[in-house]
Amino acid sequence: MQTLTVALGERSYPIFVGSNLLSRNDLYSPHIHGKQVCIVTNETVAPIYLDHLKSSLNLFQVSVVVLPDGEAHKNLTTLNEIFTSLLAEKHNRTTTLIALGGGVVGDMTGFAAACYQRGVNFIQIPTTLLSMVDSSVGGKTGVNHPMGKNMIGAFYQPQAVIADISLLKTLPAREVSAGLAEVIKYGLISDADFFVWLEQNIELLIGGDEAALTYAVLRSCENKAGVVAQDEHEGGIRAILNLGHTFGHAIETAQGYGNWLHGEAVATGMVMAADLSMRRGDISKDDLQRIINLLQRANLPTKAPADMTPEQFVELMGVDKKVLDGRLRLVLLKALGQAIVTSDIDTMLLMETFAACR
Ligand SMILES: NC(=O)c1ccc[n+]([C@@H]2O[C@H](COP(=O)([O-])OP(=O)(O)OC[C@H]3O[C@@H](n4cnc5c(N)ncnc54)[C@H](O)[C@@H]3O)[C@@H](O)[C@H]2O)c1
Ligand SMILES: [Zn+2]
Repeated sequence: MQTLTVALGERSYPIFVGSNLLSRNDLYSPHIHGKQVCIVTNETVAPIYLDHLKSSLNLFQVSVVVLPDGEAHKNLTTLNEIFTSLLAEKHNRTTTLIALGGGVVGDMTGFAAACYQRGVNFIQIPTTLLSMVDSSVGGKTGVNHPMGKNMIGAFYQPQAVIADISLLKTLPAREVSAGLAEVIKYGLISDADFFVWLEQNIELLIGGDEAALTYAVLRSCENKAGVVAQDEHEGGIRAILNLGHTFGHAIETAQGYGNWLHGEAVATGMVMAADLSMRRGDISKDDLQRIINLLQRANLPTKAPADMTPEQFVELMGVDKKVLDGRLRLVLLKALGQAIVTSDIDTMLLMETFAACR
């Protein structure tokens, strides 16, 4: 097992990465300060891992909330189920919530912890690759509102993140690929050497090799923790973590949430960002092709849906409004391994990118 630290002064916390960590009660105990624990999980993960986790927590008074599965349930109604259960089970201010699940469970549990009795402790046990490398680290928590994704939330850091690579064995292949999109993102925005490592090892990752996955999770968390430590509340540099996301959100919205997984939309979005960067003269055609090849080897889509027109991208990205105000900001590549955030965007080149990437 290896340990990283997210360095945020008094809010600093460890990320443990390794195999078979679910049984390691020595990892949880130091981060649970009272007697009470509430495990929040969902109906898919519970049958596979809940008993295992519960047996590692036998020194504590444990209650459980099992949520329905899916992004569609990431809302205030479901959040209230957590509060109701905490109150019914008489959890006090010293309780610790434990999120056992992917990003949906993690984001909701973190937000519940931020709000319950004005803030109680929580621990993240991410069970998807995406949540291990992205959502469990950095303290963004929240739920969706019918008018916008992740629009209700808080910055609230966990006490610890326990990334047990063994849990990925049961994750569907498509979800593994979606997680790899965010892994590849770190190579693109800040870690060219990691990008090269990914080019050499992508088949191992797809194949579920634990050593390769452990390394990829560690290196991704290191990258994310480094950015978060510099800019916890996204006043500046943290925005580079959104490479491909503005394009990707347009695809997610156009296709309806759930048809394209978030990581799939981000993969195509990163190709679009790279394509625009190439048109601006910042990366070469060769670099762009390397990015496309790697994403394809990870079984990720690299083209926007054929029925999405440039006009639709313009509308969904708010380009017309934003360009008029001069405020469309995009994360682009200055080089392979170096991102920039810029609002200096040539609309003509952007249109060429929309046309070229479908
Ligand atoms: N907080 C952040 O910084 C941040 C960053 C990125 C994404 N997110 C959020 O994360 C969410 C997406 O997370 P996700 O990709 O983990 O999706 P998810 O939580 O919906 O999990 C994907 C699917 O895999 C299932 N699953 C989870 N672990 C499993 C396992 N070990 N074996 C078998 N099945 C398993 C889940 O039940 C679900 O059906 C989105 O809501 C997104 O907004 C947050
Ligand atoms: Zn993302």
